[in-house]
Amino acid sequence: MRINESLFYAAALQQIIINHLEEIFKMSKFIRVCEFSSLTEGVLRAVDAAGHKVVLIRDGDQVYALKDQCSHEEFPLSEGWYEDGCLCCAFHGAKFDPKTGAALSLPAYEAIATYPVRVQNGVVEIEIA
Ligand code: FES
Repeated sequence: MRINESLFYAAALQQIIINHLEEIFKMSKFIRVCEFSSLTEGVLRAVDAAGHKVVLIRDGDQVYALKDQCSHEEFPLSEGWYEDGCLCCAFHGAKFDPKTGAALSLPAYEAIATYPVRVQNGVVEIEIA
């Protein structure tokens, strides 16, 4: 009887630990993508974040992260350039706001998805929902 009780409590404790670990991992959506020092001011950088293709832009101490796909014809935005605070697509020249992803010029009119970014201990992390 005592062994059965012990096994019962051990199983209950194991389930509690599993539940807590699942909560912790659900909350940890930020993914490490690169060292901040590896980003060059104004130079676009393509990274893979858990299978998501993302383009990073460093502007001073700020880093922006956007889906690496133009909303016009799905061209990789990381092949474009950053100029006057705008992310420019190399294929047809559409411009996007790096903060909001909003399309600022034709031929694109739909926004690009953006990702929250944080820099911790010199490491750039982006949040993937
Ligand atoms: S694919 Fe980007 S502007 Fe056309």
